[in-house]
Amino acid sequence: MRILGIETSCDETGVAIYDDQAGLLSHKLYSQVKLHADYGGVVPELASRDHVKKTLPLIKAAMAEANLTPAQIDGIAYTAGPGLVGALLVGSTIGRSLAYAWQVPAVGVHHMEGHLLAPMLEDNPPPFPFIALLVSGGHTQLVEVKGIGQYRILGESIDDAAGEAFDKTAKLMNLDYPGGPLLSKLAENGTHGRFTFPRPMTDRPGLDFSFSGLKTFAANTIAANETDEQTRADIAYAFQDAVVDTLAIKCKRALDQCGLNRLVVAGGVSANRHLREKLEALTQKRGGDVFYPRPEFCTDNGAMIAYAGMQRLKNGEHLGLGVKAQPRWPL
Ligand code: KG4
Ligand code: ZN
Repeated sequence: MRILGIETSCDETGVAIYDDQAGLLSHKLYSQVKLHADYGGVVPELASRDHVKKTLPLIKAAMAEANLTPAQIDGIAYTAGPGLVGALLVGSTIGRSLAYAWQVPAVGVHHMEGHLLAPMLEDNPPPFPFIALLVSGGHTQLVEVKGIGQYRILGESIDDAAGEAFDKTAKLMNLDYPGGPLLSKLAENGTHGRFTFPRPMTDRPGLDFSFSGLKTFAANTIAANETDEQTRADIAYAFQDAVVDTLAIKCKRALDQCGLNRLVVAGGVSANRHLREKLEALTQKRGGDVFYPRPEFCTDNGAMIAYAGMQRLKNGEHLGLGVKAQPRWPL
């Protein structure tokens, strides 16, 4: 079975072809980061228009790279939500239309299921069951995963997502968009212990997160101190340390609560080195394992959508002729 996957939920156009025997045959990604940089965030209308320009050429390029004709594609998976509605509509309309033209089934994939299953694309995939920490610009969730489609949300952010907190704090520090990776780079020169940020919601039971207060704490710390380069690095360090520590505390709690030792970390923030080191140490200490997608599949991509779509299609799920685009959609 060979599936074409299409991802257009936010500011990345991703296309990939996944084969259940041979694995990933091709994948193409176009990032709109430069397009939105001047605005300090994603402009939904610009995102949709750019997906219109890029999706079909990327599909052609992916088909050419895999040396395939449409007759060799068995199904099409597209991201149906959550995300920006205009952006979703581009991928879902193109996906649905191609499936009709090629006479193959189409399936709408949940973007977070894509992230959650992205480590399955690696040579050493995690066996079920496991705890997944999904940390992106739009979501922060802890999920108990017993199998494909068997997901139980254990906790999530009640306000900003972890990536959003990184980006907003980076903006306060005059770093370019998206600021997460830049803030993390700045933190590499930071001194441990000069500033201490709170670890929100860790002093009470439960697995929910709240990150919006950290941004305010950062704003106050910036206002109260000199803004020399070392101080900026020290603030970035303290902010990152607080986010990472908070995520690690809740991961440990989730593993304990479910009696599990395997952790999957996915979504853009899973590229963060400090977070990886901390979670590696945490799982090693308890004789467990932590699994990540390769860096290019931590952020949005078509490969995770093709993979998740294949599981859904194998399960007999597919959509009728309607186009599905659901900006809000619980996992
Ligand atoms: O999963 P993703 O590509 O898109 C969404 O679905 O949101 O995640 C993007 C988010 C952004 O907020 C970005 O700043 C953050 O992931 N991010 C990072 C790092 N790399 C990406 N945050 C912290 N440290 C990083 N190294
Ligand atoms: Zn994402």
